[in-house]
Amino acid sequence: MLTSCWEEHVSLRPYNTFGLEVRARYFARFASLDELRELLTRPETQAGPRLILGGGSNLLLTRDFGGVVLKNEIKELTISVENTAAHTARLRAGAGESWHGLVEFALENELSGLENLSLIPGTVGAAPLQNIGAYGAELRDTFVRLEAVEISSGALRVFDKEACGFGYRESVFKGPLKNQFVVTTVEFDLHRAGAGQRANVGYGALRDTLTELGYSPDAPSPRQVSEAVVRVRRSKLPDPAEIGNAGSFFKNPEIPAAQFAELKARFPNLPGYPAPSGGVKVPAGWLIEQAGFKGQRRGAGAGTHGVHERQALVLVNHGGATGAELWALAEEIIRVVGEQFGVKLQAEVNVL
Ligand code: FAD
Ligand code: EPU
Repeated sequence: MLTSCWEEHVSLRPYNTFGLEVRARYFARFASLDELRELLTRPETQAGPRLILGGGSNLLLTRDFGGVVLKNEIKELTISVENTAAHTARLRAGAGESWHGLVEFALENELSGLENLSLIPGTVGAAPLQNIGAYGAELRDTFVRLEAVEISSGALRVFDKEACGFGYRESVFKGPLKNQFVVTTVEFDLHRAGAGQRANVGYGALRDTLTELGYSPDAPSPRQVSEAVVRVRRSKLPDPAEIGNAGSFFKNPEIPAAQFAELKARFPNLPGYPAPSGGVKVPAGWLIEQAGFKGQRRGAGAGTHGVHERQALVLVNHGGATGAELWALAEEIIRVVGEQFGVKLQAEVNVL
């Protein structure tokens, strides 16, 4: 049964939101721990390289992949433990569930805590990899633990929040444990809606959008916050179904306070947000826009790829671009922003 799922020379175009035409030497799906373990023992998988694939919404594939792509389709959505004293419930999700599906499931069950992360593309299993974040919230705010299978041994290991080493768009799975584990389930502690938990609406655009929607910005329900987040996101970010992209291509860089002061003297409009470390977080979108890249197109004809016209942090495939061409544009942006501002941009997207 499993062997029939094993495919060769498979196009990854439907499996990456940039819509890049790249082939995988081997491709297989798994929907359970047993299926995953069986795939991991195959000689082709052990020989490597391996790519664990979720929704492909944070990937730039620059060439054909000579190894094994394993697509995670483990499904589960359960509310397992109620803590009545703390008004919380434990939500357990299979890594192959859609992230937004999980947010919807929480809202339907009157659980709050994930609503600010509405509409982020991709799977539950990839979400801890970069500690997904948006509109004043991050995965780590409600995360409790995850289970992951070690690729070399097939052993199941539990990682609590501390063991995951979460940071801004970071975790141990992108750092020291990169490519060593397959996340199979993730658990969250969420609040029972209406049990006194305050909505997280500190992010400027959210309050305004709640008001526009006719809701109170002071005490919105989790569903109303979700609606506002969805509306803001749709107004700012291109839909991968219409135009290939992977969200923010770069991280927002954090620079020392002294460097920020020096830049601010040269560029009085430069925005900056104090970071817990004492440095200042600067929006990469601003730097890229000032460097003149916003809306630029590259490639044949009217342009096959470029920088989105409404959001300079998003690189886009207008159709027909290769991953290598997109990466060449990313490198040019890194170079020019470095020369103009002395700030080194780092890719957020996983480049293969
Ligand atoms: P994939 O792209 O399939 O994989 C990403 C990485 O995780 C790869 O290295 C892959 O090997 C690894 N991986 C995937 N699944 C597993 C697993 N089960 N175990 C181990 N490793 C795994 N991100 C944000 O943080 N905030 C945003 O607001 C946001 N907005 C976005 C908007 C758009 C329009 C798009 C296209 C992307 C956006 N993203 C955002 C980025 C992206 O949605 C997230 O990073 C998401 O978590 C990626 O999920 P995925 O399943 O598509 O991962
Ligand atoms: N800006 C510009 N020009 C642009 C884009 C942005 O000047 O073209 C400046 C503006 O000053 C704006 C500021 O950048 O106020 C911030 O822009 P925005 O609110 O759109 O957020 P962002 O920094 O571009 C980050 C995350 C997003 C997340 C949003 C909302 C990163 C790398 N990106 O984007 O996450 O959805 O905030 O919280 O941290 C992703 O990770 O893929 C992603 C989309």
